[in-house]
Amino acid sequence: MAVVNLEERFQEKIDAEVKIEPKDWMPDAYRKTLIRQISQHAHSEIVGMLPEGNWITRAPSLKRKAILMAKVQDEAGHGLYLYSAAETLGISRDEMYDQLHTGKAKYSSIFNYPTLTWADMGAIGWLVDGAAIMNQVPLCRTSYGPYARAMVRICKEESFHQRQGFETLLVLSRGSAEQKAMCQDAINRWWWPSLMMFGPPDAESPNTIQSMKWKIKRLSNDELRQKFIDMCAEQVKVLGMTLPDPDLKWNEERQHYDFGPINWNEFYEVLKGNGPCNKQRLDARRKAWDEGKWVRDAAEAFAQKREAVRKVA
Ligand SMILES: [Fe+2]
Ligand SMILES: [Fe+2]
Repeated sequence: MAVVNLEERFQEKIDAEVKIEPKDWMPDAYRKTLIRQISQHAHSEIVGMLPEGNWITRAPSLKRKAILMAKVQDEAGHGLYLYSAAETLGISRDEMYDQLHTGKAKYSSIFNYPTLTWADMGAIGWLVDGAAIMNQVPLCRTSYGPYARAMVRICKEESFHQRQGFETLLVLSRGSAEQKAMCQDAINRWWWPSLMMFGPPDAESPNTIQSMKWKIKRLSNDELRQKFIDMCAEQVKVLGMTLPDPDLKWNEERQHYDFGPINWNEFYEVLKGNGPCNKQRLDARRKAWDEGKWVRDAAEAFAQKREAVRKVA
């Protein structure tokens, strides 16, 4: 069949909300876009374990430690579902790891910021996982079947992450003057980077139109960012804290909060590798990969041995 017809039929399926499955025909650009997006997403989950892993040994109580460990383990699981989803598009896991370790692939810039105090565990859960959910709920309906199905479970777990973060901040916000100050400071540091998680403004996001036509993406960066700001501007009142934006104000006419300018220079600098922890994060991943070599070798040797026994039998 001619490519034109194949492309037309592909788009008809998308328009009719029929999921695209691994063995279906798809345009090369659709496949490439998805491999890029899903692998970046997987890398973000894995690198995202590092800033919080930093606090597991210093959690203030056994209960907090158990919660934080469960959350960090969830993120590892998210990475694994997503690597599996990307593999169905014809890229191997080794290739994806290689792209991460050589700096060819990106991951969410938010994880290049340091976690300075315990309150950062709360701010990350509330704001970073909160922004992730905003981005990810529409992805449960994304057009590629394996990605959409992975997102359903991920979103359920993310919503637990957000709640535990909010609750951590709530406890601090009702504590001593020092704890209150710690809570406010963490919100101040994580607020702007979490707004950047939605990506550049729509006008500077050239791939958005095609991704929306293919229904990989359902809402634009600016739409999602606005929804997130509207939600947080209300939730922060429950904490009795403030968001670090003097321009944040309810706009009756728009029925949304207005907000101040985002420092996109900072975003692009961190993206280029110049954030506070870029080097540290990549070094940690490479070290983990190198130190895990004996485990991979042993697993491989064991598999070969078992296969040999099976053949003899
Ligand atoms: Fe996650
Ligand atoms: Fe999460």
